[in-house]
Amino acid sequence: MRIAISTGGGDAPGLNAVIRAAVLSAVNRGWEVLGVKRGYAGLLGEDEVVFLTKESVRGIAHLGGTILRTTNRGSPFKYPVKQPDGSFVEVDRSDELMENARQLGIDAMISIGGDGSLAIAKQLCDKGMKIVSVPKTIDNDVAGTITTFGFDTAVNTAIEAIDKLHTTAESHDRVIVMEVMGRDAGFIALHAGVAGTADVILVPEIPYDVAKVCEKIQARDRAGRHFSIVVVAEGAFPRGGESSTLGPSMPGQARRVGGVAEVIAAEIQQRTGKETRSLVLGHLQRGGMPTGYDRLLATRFGGAAIRAIAEEKWGEMVALQSPHIVTVRIEDVLAEEKRVEPSHDVVLTARAMGISFGD
Ligand code: F6P
Repeated sequence: MRIAISTGGGDAPGLNAVIRAAVLSAVNRGWEVLGVKRGYAGLLGEDEVVFLTKESVRGIAHLGGTILRTTNRGSPFKYPVKQPDGSFVEVDRSDELMENARQLGIDAMISIGGDGSLAIAKQLCDKGMKIVSVPKTIDNDVAGTITTFGFDTAVNTAIEAIDKLHTTAESHDRVIVMEVMGRDAGFIALHAGVAGTADVILVPEIPYDVAKVCEKIQARDRAGRHFSIVVVAEGAFPRGGESSTLGPSMPGQARRVGGVAEVIAAEIQQRTGKETRSLVLGHLQRGGMPTGYDRLLATRFGGAAIRAIAEEKWGEMVALQSPHIVTVRIEDVLAEEKRVEPSHDVVLTARAMGISFGD
């Protein structure tokens, strides 16, 4: 048996722990493992495919990033190919990928990635590749699993930042608006905001009205709390408006969401007269060591992926449905959009404690 592993999309803390668990579990069964470098680039002749042994995965469980490297602009179905005039066209290179996988004797693939990678995995499955997926993203926006690995680490990084921002906000009587990642989902903002005791939390699932945000800040002022912390998800948008977009994306890459903190900070300062600063936490949320929770979850996913291959569960994704790891069909996962539920207990408790959602 020869399997291959690929990591796709944005990096997330815990990727290496998945790779380690999968490689050790596979090698201990007597299987061979190949690592496809940089998403699927290794299978398109654009990068390497290497053997992964017990040696290759020694001492990596606690490391962020991925030893296989990754990309969020390498779909084999829409591969960006540079033209002589410098422009890019998207080319379907999936047949080439299938042929290269066949020539390398790959019997099955583990694809570790978020929604984009799951969609690619589904398409490759439809072409006959035997794939099992592992859900990865700091955004936690993959359906079918209670959580993805990487999310807990990102939330903890955001909480630490909020704790530190309290110092300056309180000392200077300022408002600080901190933007966190999450694309169109508000899980990082919600969890970090509640655990970090933010005063206002803005998420894409609850469009905001900046006047309501200012009301909360002014009410705190009147109560003698002259500072406020606003945590905003990068995909949050005003009622009747749209989420902000950051500069141009690279060819083959999705729209880059973000920049909302600066917009909101300017509006707050203008409306309340309070000195307001903004901060984008950015890729700090994706870096560093995975938390113990993420390391264990990633390890469980890696081991479960090998069991799923042994059971020939093609087209399935390993998932956490506490207390167990199960498998769910990738097409079912893709059919469902996982977002913050405004009636979820975390939102209700936050509201009951006086946290404003700007609505
Ligand atoms: O999906 C993970 C994520 O970190 C999102 O939260 C964010 O919008 C996006 O990736 C950023 O991607 P990039 O690394 O391309 O800037």
